[in-house]
Amino acid sequence: MRAVVTGGAGFIGSSLVHAMLGARTQVTVIDDLSTGSMDNVNPTAPFRRLDVTAPGLADAVGAARPDVVIHLAAQVSVPVSISDPAFDWHVNVEGTRAVAEAAVAAGAGRVVFASSAAVYGEPVELPLTEESPKSPAVPYGLSKLAAEVVLAEVLRPAGVDFACLRFANVFGPRQKAEGEGGVVAQFATRMARGERPVIYGSGQQTRDFIYVADVAGACVAAAEFEGALALSGPDGPAYNISTGRKTTVNMLAEGLRVAMRHPGDFDRAPAREGDVEESVLAPDKAAEVFGWRASVELETGLRASAAWFLQQR
Ligand SMILES: NC(=O)c1ccc[n+]([C@@H]2O[C@H](COP(=O)([O-])OP(=O)(O)OC[C@H]3O[C@@H](n4cnc5c(N)ncnc54)[C@H](O)[C@@H]3O)[C@@H](O)[C@H]2O)c1
Repeated sequence: MRAVVTGGAGFIGSSLVHAMLGARTQVTVIDDLSTGSMDNVNPTAPFRRLDVTAPGLADAVGAARPDVVIHLAAQVSVPVSISDPAFDWHVNVEGTRAVAEAAVAAGAGRVVFASSAAVYGEPVELPLTEESPKSPAVPYGLSKLAAEVVLAEVLRPAGVDFACLRFANVFGPRQKAEGEGGVVAQFATRMARGERPVIYGSGQQTRDFIYVADVAGACVAAAEFEGALALSGPDGPAYNISTGRKTTVNMLAEGLRVAMRHPGDFDRAPAREGDVEESVLAPDKAAEVFGWRASVELETGLRASAAWFLQQR
């Protein structure tokens, strides 16, 4: 299989490229290195430094002759989406349109898109299923939801199959403290420096934390699935990529403290704008349709993350 991975120099993208090369897939990485790094790019994967909103995108995708395009490149910071919603929209919506059009022009059979739990906003029911109401609380969630609509608009008439994978809170090695759901990276970076991590709000807010290798595995499973993904079951192409387990931020902080052997305490600060109180996503649809389930326990993922963050000191 030949694949293009946009955002392949980033946190999730680099794990994904690693997993795909392991599966003997030919992968081309397209990334503008705005938040990603060349250190993350697998040296055996051809690399194009390019903004997905730039005019050269269709040529770059076409040259790779991909069977599948996995689109992870995005403006990923919630605070940036609040301070500069036009930029967030440009990268996440117009960029996704450009990627979808390039995939069609290149004759790709499928697009796999990194969407987000942020499309749901403050949940009105738990666990969130793909059909739950979508009411994004921040521009980032809105741009991800709009990107899902744009994909359908471009890909359906062209007969290109696609899946919108709504990732829960991803964590693991190479994560930056600034990105979406970067709480593990924020805590770990501070702990590794011997500083006190900051917990916003009560710490009793819950999240569905998923280890990055599981998310990479979901992207691979979606890319390789032999049936159709876009029209399978409720909410068409949307699939929650999550563990289905709730963890409070306080529990997470304590688990990481143990994994990092951090002796200190935590600082507390007021809750942040747009932070939802509770979140957990049901992953059943992905299991039923393309046979993927998360398999890494939280503790195992935290230990692997801790080892990496401690090495970065
Ligand atoms: N980390 C999470 O918890 C999480 C949760 C839900 C969804 N996601 C989504 O997963 C994807 C990957 O996120 P990540 O956490 O690995 O973040 P990341 O910042 O590490 O990766 C994003 C990559 O995209 C690249 N990029 C950004 N804008 C670009 C552009 N205009 N053109 C080309 N490349 C560009 C960056 O350089 C970076 O390498 C994103 O689409 C993000 O919205 C992440």
